[in-house]
Amino acid sequence: MFPTPIERFEFGERLNTLLSPARPIQSIEYLQGRARELDKIEKSLFARGRHIFIYGDRGVGKSSLAAAAANQCQSADSSYIDVSCGPDSTLKSIVANIAYQAMNSSRIRKTKLTTNAAIEYRFLKLGGSKEVTHNDLYSEIHTLLDAVAVLQEVASIHSERPIVVLDEFDRLENKAEAHLFADLVKQLGDKKVNITFFFTGVGKTLEELLGAHPSAIRQFETIELLKLSWDARWDIAKRAANAFGVEIDEQVCVRIAAVSDGYPYYVHLITEKLLWRVWEDPALITEIGREHYQLALRDAIESINPELKRPYGMAVNQRTEDFEKVLWATADSDYLDRSLKQMYSSYEYIISQQRSGNRVAITYEAFTAIVRRLKSPNCGSVLITTLYNQASKKGWVSYREPLLRGFVRMQAEAHGLELLGERPEAPRQVMHAPSSAMRGYRASAVPKGVHFGRKREIGDEDDPVLENEPEAPPPKP
Ligand SMILES: Nc1ncnc2c1ncn2[C@@H]1O[C@H](COP(=O)(O)OP(=O)(O)OP(=O)(O)O)[C@@H](O)[C@H]1O
Ligand SMILES: [Mg+2]
Repeated sequence: MFPTPIERFEFGERLNTLLSPARPIQSIEYLQGRARELDKIEKSLFARGRHIFIYGDRGVGKSSLAAAAANQCQSADSSYIDVSCGPDSTLKSIVANIAYQAMNSSRIRKTKLTTNAAIEYRFLKLGGSKEVTHNDLYSEIHTLLDAVAVLQEVASIHSERPIVVLDEFDRLENKAEAHLFADLVKQLGDKKVNITFFFTGVGKTLEELLGAHPSAIRQFETIELLKLSWDARWDIAKRAANAFGVEIDEQVCVRIAAVSDGYPYYVHLITEKLLWRVWEDPALITEIGREHYQLALRDAIESINPELKRPYGMAVNQRTEDFEKVLWATADSDYLDRSLKQMYSSYEYIISQQRSGNRVAITYEAFTAIVRRLKSPNCGSVLITTLYNQASKKGWVSYREPLLRGFVRMQAEAHGLELLGERPEAPRQVMHAPSSAMRGYRASAVPKGVHFGRKREIGDEDDPVLENEPEAPPPKP
């Protein structure tokens, strides 16, 4: 129990305001470690006609950043317009949805469309005489220019500074439709329409999501969202615990941050389970230690999204236990893409840490054969080959779904194995992290308990994984 006892319902409700593993954050108050990105968005929006595109891995926090920033940038006279894309969304359906939301917002109720002098409403005048439906609007839009005209009307009825969040843009299956948005944005700029789009999408580049349209791409401020910094990870956990008057042991904070692999979803989930464990404990707790953490980790694993659990299950439910250890080895690094030799060195470490059971490591050849199997559909296709040299076909190994790596790390930790944390010199993070978020990476501030010093063979570029390498037979049990 907490130092100040709290009744179950009240505790659950309060916890829900502090931690939200299943929904994006809406307010900058709860958004950790994204100060630099917020600042970039705010500054870039001084230039009218500019739009924002936030892209990155699944679960890294794109919708949260978009929603929190949209709430900041949207003028106070209305709430921002929020549209989620689906596989069959089209430009037409999305624009109709935006117009529908705009018409239903509070401002429209106070605005007489017919008497607004500056603009003649061709599309939205429908709303003046009857209850307008999404379909009514949809059937009015025939061309790209119609869509632009609708948005012009939306801009004039919605608010001083209308913001539209177009979430999960990558889900649009029809790529031709997705690419039409590049033209739309270009047209909005040319016609000086006062509306700002915040796109979000899972992807590696803007071109991949929006197509290559040079003059439209210039109208975007692009934000590649990377994993959360160490500081931000433990701030989420500490803040939630402090709200109930308890501290979290520093080592436990380090483990939550390390095991999460930088994905806030895991930090929220583990911390939520941790605080429930404390609430249920009849003893008075002032500092949360390892025991509660281990229980919370298991609870978190149990309630993880089945979409993530399934591939893990497929990968490890093989004839030998080796698969699970090999899989853990693939997640034992700050780098997503790794060579087989680096992974094998992690594997040797894992075997050396084993306290009981078979401590004999499989050979390098058997190890690589399992890695290859982990790329196959029978094993959940958890791994992929990343080619870095097309000509030589030399490649490293990576995760098909980077978010899954966090789950693999949680599984390893629940089995008593602490995997490697991020190294202080992790280049991508340091380059992008704001100064306040970099503390965790400096050598002087390396969190205790994170294994930076493990012996590792680096730079073994002669360790190719051939794209078309034949599938090896499974190792003998
Ligand atoms: N900066 C942050 N600080 C604290 N919590 C965060 C932050 N960013 C995201 N979260 C939390 O992490 C979880 C995932 O965030 P979010 O849904 O925004 O990710 P996403 O990148 O949009 O995911 P997806 O690709 O699945 O749409 C949510 O529970 C959210 O509350
Ligand atoms: Mg999202």
